Amino acid sequence: MLTTARRHELALLAAGQPWLPALLVAGRLARPIRKVPTLGWFVADPAVARQIYNDHAHFSIVSEGAAGHWWAQVIGDWVEDLFEGQGHTELRTKVRDLFAAKHTDDLVARVIGPALKQISADLAAGGTVDIAERARVLVGRSVSDLVGMEPADIRALFAEGEGGRVAAEGNGVDETMSDDDEPFRILFDHVEELVNLGIGTMASTTLDPVALERARTLAAKLSAAVPAAYERADGNTTLGRCRELGLDVQHAAGLAILMAVAGTDTLASAMTRMIALLHDSGEQHALLAAPDRLPDAVRETLRVTSPAYLVGRSVTADVEIAGRQLRAGEHVKILTWSINNAVGDFKIHRDYVPETRQLWFGGGRHLCLGAQLVHSELGSLLEALTAAGRPFEIVERRYRRKVFIPTYETLRIRLA
Ligand code: HEM
Repeated sequence: MLTTARRHELALLAAGQPWLPALLVAGRLARPIRKVPTLGWFVADPAVARQIYNDHAHFSIVSEGAAGHWWAQVIGDWVEDLFEGQGHTELRTKVRDLFAAKHTDDLVARVIGPALKQISADLAAGGTVDIAERARVLVGRSVSDLVGMEPADIRALFAEGEGGRVAAEGNGVDETMSDDDEPFRILFDHVEELVNLGIGTMASTTLDPVALERARTLAAKLSAAVPAAYERADGNTTLGRCRELGLDVQHAAGLAILMAVAGTDTLASAMTRMIALLHDSGEQHALLAAPDRLPDAVRETLRVTSPAYLVGRSVTADVEIAGRQLRAGEHVKILTWSINNAVGDFKIHRDYVPETRQLWFGGGRHLCLGAQLVHSELGSLLEALTAAGRPFEIVERRYRRKVFIPTYETLRIRLA
């Protein structure tokens, strides 16, 4: 029988894209690897997934069927080197320390610490907080800072008051949020619209002309403030490091967009779903009784939600995997959500699972660069929520509809 937590998670996935829960649940049957006509190979086994992530001689992230191919059409072919060539190794080496715990903990405390304190205070005062609305702003603020954009840059970017999706629909707005947050809400909507253009790429990552034009317009808008920020960005930001590395401003702008896309929807999705899962599973009571399990609650959130539910690769040379013959030109889809959820339901007392490790962050040389930032942010949000030592209740929830990365539109909570 479906638990309440599972029922909400599946409904949330369906609101994003109606066929998603069926694909991800049935995806387990593909274990270890199974071919689906017109779509390619589906992988539902953690060891096979890791084998593919680590095999750069036969699998690529930049050929048709993988994310790099999509981006090359939007930003330019040069991103191929950034994804897979010497440029990829150099850049990862150059920015590594910016993504380490020392830096991300400091970033979280400095950039979103005040907003998190406000959440604790609002809840303690008996208020209702829309976690979905707050999450959209929190991730906008943190990713902007990581890139090297100041709040003034984001305000200038959206100065003409382009209403984002939430503002336009006039719903879900948390009345206790400040006007300063508005540019970050709009930033989120722009990034999400760009990400949503990825809907429909299951069979092919080649963009149709209308989608391509819109993607380029959004990308240009998002990177408009980069030149000014690039000139003055401090060495402790991604743009600053790009400048030191000699990456020109156009390439740095492309990287800023990639970073914004990688670290916005996924993290906001994990934030909101973490809070819903803790509530729906009743595990918030276990957490209040054992606060030292907070890092486990974060890890379990990432396992069960797996916001990057499917990761694509293309086969560049014939290869045998788990007894199957994969041919050059075929596509591979690693079913991250299916693999991670085969372990079981959300339990904060579940220890680290060596088999899945942290497959929700991918694997091999493309392992998520933002992993530590994600842990820092989710951990801090959970600390803010549990600060009062009392359980919370959900007073209203709505799933966000027609989105590539499923998430909550509204998740209003208050202390019980
Ligand atoms: C819960 C939130 C997140 C999840 C589930 C997630 C998941 C992933 C996954 C699965 C990949 C590998 C994609 C592939 O191999 O094709 C990836 C790559 C990446 N992620 Fe994340 N991510 C999250 C948040 C972030 C954040 C906050 C940032 C930083 C701003 C970030 C930056 C990146 C970058 C730069 C890459 C590319 C790394 C490379 O190619 O070397 N991610 N992420």
